Amino acid sequence: MPITDQGPLPTLSEGDKKAIRESWPQIYQNFEQTGLVVLLEFLQKNPGAQQSFPKFSATKCNLEQDNEVKWQASRIINAVNHTIGLMDKEAAMKQYLKELSAKHSSEFQVDPKLFKELSAIFVSTIRGKAAYEKLFSIICTLLRSSYDE
Ligand code: HEM
Repeated sequence: MPITDQGPLPTLSEGDKKAIRESWPQIYQNFEQTGLVVLLEFLQKNPGAQQSFPKFSATKCNLEQDNEVKWQASRIINAVNHTIGLMDKEAAMKQYLKELSAKHSSEFQVDPKLFKELSAIFVSTIRGKAAYEKLFSIICTLLRSSYDE
């Protein structure tokens, strides 16, 4: 099932949530490394995206050792972790991701097409199954939401 970023918001079944809750702690225990692998692959596959990050837009080599890149990678995976913590509180989860969307659209001015790119790399890095594809479809759809207003 591909990751979507538009249309109706997918719903996580109890089975999806259970699958995520059971597998996430093992993924998250290496959050710095996992987050970094995801962000580096994203920047490599989307060369224009680096320009969006003021703190490392001009860094040319050793991105993997750059503290700002590492910090950004942690922020992304921590936002995913926070979203997972809100799986049973749908209203709070929507609010959290919509606020993040507003920042990405008006403050950071990120191309919304890139959310899906990063999410696909995330899911494949963690070898996530259907439940994670749904989770990231929710994340992408809500991160895009303020662009359509
Ligand atoms: C799963 C997708 C993503 C998540 C969960 C995520 C999460 C975050 C978080 C938590 C922040 C910090 C917000 C704050 O300062 O309060 C942030 C900042 C930012 N994000 Fe994302 N992000 C995602 C995708 C992307 C993509 C695809 C781009 C494209 C280039 C991007 C560009 C940025 C930029 C430019 C900033 C600001 C950096 C700075 O403060 O210097 N994000 N993101």
